[in-house]
Amino acid sequence: MDNRLIIRGGRPLYGDVKISGMKNSALPVIFGTIATGDVCTIKNLPDISDISLALETIEMVGASVRFIDTSTAIIDTRKVMMKSPPLEYVSKMRASTYMLGAMLGRFGRAEVGYPGGCDLGARPINLHLKGFETLGARITYSTSGMITCEAPIGLKGNFVYLDIASVGATINVMLAAVLAEGTTVIENAAREPHIVDMACFLNACGAKISGAGTSMIRIRGVESLHGCTYELAPDMIEAGTYMVAAAATRGRVCVKNIIPKHMESVSTKLREIGIPVEVQDDSITVTGLEGFRGTEIRTNPYPGFPTDMHPQFSALLALSRGVSRVFEGIYPERFRYVPELNKMGANIEVIDGSALINGVETLHGAEVKASDLRAGACLVIAALAADGVTTISSIEYIDRGYEDLVEKLKFLGADIKRV
Ligand code: UD1
Repeated sequence: MDNRLIIRGGRPLYGDVKISGMKNSALPVIFGTIATGDVCTIKNLPDISDISLALETIEMVGASVRFIDTSTAIIDTRKVMMKSPPLEYVSKMRASTYMLGAMLGRFGRAEVGYPGGCDLGARPINLHLKGFETLGARITYSTSGMITCEAPIGLKGNFVYLDIASVGATINVMLAAVLAEGTTVIENAAREPHIVDMACFLNACGAKISGAGTSMIRIRGVESLHGCTYELAPDMIEAGTYMVAAAATRGRVCVKNIIPKHMESVSTKLREIGIPVEVQDDSITVTGLEGFRGTEIRTNPYPGFPTDMHPQFSALLALSRGVSRVFEGIYPERFRYVPELNKMGANIEVIDGSALINGVETLHGAEVKASDLRAGACLVIAALAADGVTTISSIEYIDRGYEDLVEKLKFLGADIKRV
């Protein structure tokens, strides 16, 4: 039997929680170390299964990894060779596509199996590949599911327009372009904080990237990169998850070690429904109240409301007074959590790519199953707020993205255990 979480709900969360490093920048930074061909010290790495898997994947191609404390790793990619990691690794993780950009820049060739990851519906990588082609790479696909990118005479800087402001495509093109000859401009680039974190890491390694965080990124190619010591930014989605959990349980939680600017869309939505949010320099305190209102949410690329906070907010809005609607603008199929929340007494219908949520007074414990990482976080929040005991299965999804979830929640007063 797989691991499960057992949560006895109805206890408000109180206290402080320290937020870990950002998963979605830690992953490209880990794969990005390959482009340096040198030794990098990465600090504030979250201790989650996706990070372990990413580190094992780069070890498969010759990197060596040594932890000097739980959140700091020294990654040496000097002996990395141009080879593809075993399919069983890449099929588990979408971020493994970042190896394409990193290896293509360094070796002029890269080969990776078609990536896996959380199943949120179709997740193509056509824009990553189109970007590489614009820089002069030739892409071929094998029947066994391998993608090969080749640029025997090196990559050449160019103007890359992204049809969608894709996080993955922006990072991958940036990674390949840092070692291209000449200047690359990415237009309609994603603006997420992880893009900025990744650009800062690459610049610390000698890259010349400007404009990260805006929709136009300019990359002046350099001959080679070098190692660096880099501290990752805090995880805005982990922070948002604890903020929503505080509201849903009518508790009071201070999320610490964060960048409040990254949390603006989440803080605004909480305030909009009547939940007080106090912003300090590097922390935010959320105080849950009875009788908060429903609202409308549309997920959009940053600085819009993050799709990765959609399921958690639905759990909160399930307990609001009134009707809410959550429109999913990034992953139209991201509603697999809905039947599970409804098992707990929520009243949610999925209509035309949106969740129509009729608020209920209480949720009750049930046996539910996580279908992906953030769906799992949504069920944890619902369970913490519900009357009675909830058992959540398939929690390996939750382990992909939340460091010490059980310990952090216990510290805040939750009755939660892993069995
Ligand atoms: C990243 C995050 C993920 C988050 C998502 C959106 C990581 C490891 N994962 O995923 O947690 O939910 O950003 O904020 O950072 N698309 C294409 N073609 C492409 C690439 C993307 O059509 O080549 C589409 C996708 O199907 C999706 C949209 O563009 O509808 C956005 O995807 P993207 O921003 O690339 O997300 P990821 O990088 O996969």
